Amino acid sequence: MTVQPSTTHPLPPDLNAERMPHHVAVIMDGNGRWAEQRGLPRLMGHRQGVAALKSTVYCCSSWGIPALTVYGFSAENWGRPRTEVDFLMELINHALGRELDEMISRGVCLRVVGDLNGLPSRLQTNIEEAMAKTRQNQGVLLTLALNYGGRQEITEACRHIATQVQQGHLAPEDINDELFGRHVFTPSVGDPDLLIRTSGEMRISNFLLWQLAYSEIYVTPTLWPDFDQMEFHRALCDYQQRHRRFGKL
Ligand code: IPE
Ligand code: IPE
Ligand code: MG
Repeated sequence: MTVQPSTTHPLPPDLNAERMPHHVAVIMDGNGRWAEQRGLPRLMGHRQGVAALKSTVYCCSSWGIPALTVYGFSAENWGRPRTEVDFLMELINHALGRELDEMISRGVCLRVVGDLNGLPSRLQTNIEEAMAKTRQNQGVLLTLALNYGGRQEITEACRHIATQVQQGHLAPEDINDELFGRHVFTPSVGDPDLLIRTSGEMRISNFLLWQLAYSEIYVTPTLWPDFDQMEFHRALCDYQQRHRRFGKL
């Protein structure tokens, strides 16, 4: 997959095109607090969060970042009040429909990962349609994690592998990092180079537990709805200063 920096929104001069991350993951947190700080219902924060996501996706297009994986709804988020959960499902459904044409015209390829069977059936149908219509796109690969949990992803991979062993297609000694990595949800994009978490929380909240082994972590106090092009630029500048060692010297 090759995403060239755009000529209309060129890379800011203080970013080095050679050192751009290939895969950025984001825990989009702080929507509720953003709304509460303004005396608004939490739901308004989620609505604003969609705009922040859109801007982040198109920054990736413009700046030559080929893959973006975002946490939209965790397996644990079902524990929130019913009204908030229902609103979120409807918001995601609506945003998928509204943004589909633009995603197609901008070459975005959408993948949704997580336990999709647990989502409302209308949302499942629209996800299938959006994935099918963007499958051939060669631009940014946007992976949206919905009803997703890192532990659940790992246990599901274990179940697949165990079944293959049981059926005699695989021997236990064939199981290694490389094989396991092919059974998680993001085999084609490689592990995230950079994980961004907004709203200042210093935790990963069950996101990409396998894939984040050597990702650089950037936490900003900025709440997700306020995460704009300038904030993303700042995160990337910080990333480009890091010295990644992967356990070596
Ligand atoms: C992140 O914002 C969005 C989802 C988890 C769906 P929150 O809703 O967690 O906002 P805060 O953390 O309560 O401010
Ligand atoms: C993580 O945020 C999930 C998403 C951003 C979708 P949460 O707000 O659910 O995480 P905690 O509860 O602060 O750990
Ligand atoms: Mg939160």
